[in-house]
Amino acid sequence: MSTPNLLMIGGATEEMMSRLTPEFTVHKLSEIADFDSWAAEHGASVEAVMTNGHDGVSPAIMAALPNLKAVSGYGVGYDAVDTDACVARGIKVSHTPDVLNGEVANTTLLLMLAGLRNFRHDEAWARSGDWEAKGGAPLSTSPDGKTIGILGLGRIGQEIADRLAVFNPTIVYHTRTKKDVPYTYYDDLVEMAKACDVLVCITPGGASTNKIVNKEVLEALGPKGMLINVSRGSVVDEDALIAALESGKLGLAGLDVFEGEPHIPDALKASERTVLLPHVGSATHETRAAMGALTVDNLLQWKADGTLKTPVPECAHL
Ligand code: NAP
Ligand code: 8YV
Repeated sequence: MSTPNLLMIGGATEEMMSRLTPEFTVHKLSEIADFDSWAAEHGASVEAVMTNGHDGVSPAIMAALPNLKAVSGYGVGYDAVDTDACVARGIKVSHTPDVLNGEVANTTLLLMLAGLRNFRHDEAWARSGDWEAKGGAPLSTSPDGKTIGILGLGRIGQEIADRLAVFNPTIVYHTRTKKDVPYTYYDDLVEMAKACDVLVCITPGGASTNKIVNKEVLEALGPKGMLINVSRGSVVDEDALIAALESGKLGLAGLDVFEGEPHIPDALKASERTVLLPHVGSATHETRAAMGALTVDNLLQWKADGTLKTPVPECAHL
């Protein structure tokens, strides 16, 4: 049986490896000391790549694999893969939609509750002895009955709206195209931000969303408003965010993703107004297992019949 050469960018679980290694000859990028030398010898033999949402496939790696046919991404976001270049070369690309919707929605609720209910401060108050020494902690803000704007009402955005229902919110949303949903649509993001208590970013990354949450949007959200970003760091102008938090023009920010991650600016780390997570929106054992299984399913299906189970829309016609 043939075992096509596969370049693995990033990690894989034992379960994923146990399904991959009988079917592919796996080359781990992390174990290749000198990629250029390796690619000069082996690059032309590589037909498939497995990668993740963060690393994607760099232009240098794309160029070093002239016979690449399939890219399977572990994650739903694929802004780190140049799909135009893949289409031009006939390379099929897959991702892992839907299986992480619930977990990313859970992470969004976690950030919202932690921010509005002042979790960081109150936890420290309990732990430090301030409760005994100073009395009760200051009051916080209820999540109930708020107006929550969802920027990007797709698979995950809809799940966030569904899970927010327990707080009896007014849901509003902004996307490029109006959806058939029972929520108020805003075609103008600044106008929506003015109406919101909480703004949740859950669009894809990439050129069309680059820094669309800018100074104007942040200031429209206002001193009592909370920004939550579980999409990509590129969606929010991080300098404008820091300035808005420092000046008090924005109330709170709950952030899972950052412009230069894993680097987080010191100003965001030091701020009393932020709740920070290290891009763990989907990072539970259960959800990562489902994502890993789908990532491998795509590769095995491609090997069997040349098609992908969950291709990205741009490459679905290939
Ligand atoms: P999806 O189903 O494709 O939904 C994307 C939504 O964004 C759609 O409603 C789309 O509507 C809207 N959108 C796209 N471009 C836009 C623009 N320029 N302006 C306004 N709205 C825009 O994607 P999904 O599965 O929900 O995933 C969304 C993203 O979440 C992923 O791409 C990824 O970046 C991020 N994510 C993060 C984590 C994490 O760990 N933090 C985990 C999973 C996913 P229109 O096309 O009508 O505009
Ligand atoms: C993952 C994500 O952290 O699916 C996405 O787009 O951002 C996350 O689920 C990432 O892709 C895993 O590398």
